[in-house]
Amino acid sequence: MVLDSINLSPAVGSLVRGLNLPEDMSDETMRALLDLLFDRGVIVIPGQTLSDSEYVRFARFFGQPLEFFIPEHRNAEHPEIIRINNDAATPAAMRDGAVHWHSDSSYETVPGAVTMLFGREAPDEGGETHFASTSAAYADLSEIMKARIDGLVARHELARAPWIEGETQPDPDRPPRKTDAPEHPLVMIHPVTGRPGIFTSGTAYAINGMDDAEATDLIRELREHIVEPAYRTSYKVRPGDIVLWDNFGTVHCASPIEYSNENGKRRLLHRISTKGLPRLCAGKIA
Ligand SMILES: [Fe+2]
Repeated sequence: MVLDSINLSPAVGSLVRGLNLPEDMSDETMRALLDLLFDRGVIVIPGQTLSDSEYVRFARFFGQPLEFFIPEHRNAEHPEIIRINNDAATPAAMRDGAVHWHSDSSYETVPGAVTMLFGREAPDEGGETHFASTSAAYADLSEIMKARIDGLVARHELARAPWIEGETQPDPDRPPRKTDAPEHPLVMIHPVTGRPGIFTSGTAYAINGMDDAEATDLIRELREHIVEPAYRTSYKVRPGDIVLWDNFGTVHCASPIEYSNENGKRRLLHRISTKGLPRLCAGKIA
């Protein structure tokens, strides 16, 4: 099955046309969506009207949905769905927490697999999410750099990565979050496609066996390379859009948003994140 899609940019992102979920959630359609997601890193499916339970059923095709633990963000009936909004009551220290380039849950031993957003409300202006392909960025590295980073293992932690231009540093008053402080290979082999990608996320801060100053410089250089314009696209999630990204093949960065409850300024997104391999990809593990 071939989906009707157009590319958002040469390196990353496709927009799928003509799908009507949930009627189209056959294994055949979902396998085609998975193939497109892992090939293009990001897919956008506009014009959808799924109920919460249908959305969770859709998400299960992309791995095991995680249940969220913060009660005020949690959907009582569907704990997999996280509500993301720009409520004016949001404490200053909790605002704009995703305005840095990262892949989700890279501060955990098992990183996030696929993350999706279902648009419910969007502000008239702003609110774009930026994406970059870490596999396209890896493919363009010099052979010297590929040889240098091959086999290196990075240590990850929140708020310790070398910052790059355009990122917002975390508010020092933001409550610290417990992490696994994991180690991950700097070159991540994609679990489905087998394609290598640069895996710094926004959390790699040190490299085993390397002097800290040298590691900081190398991580920053790789992070700056990933976000070069050739590997990027941007998309604003609007009501009815479902946007999915592959955390092993891409990084993303939110843009700063105004926190307001006024008409035309509100944003509401329903997010689901998964871990593990999609059931339909089980036979394709590289
Ligand atoms: Fe994120």
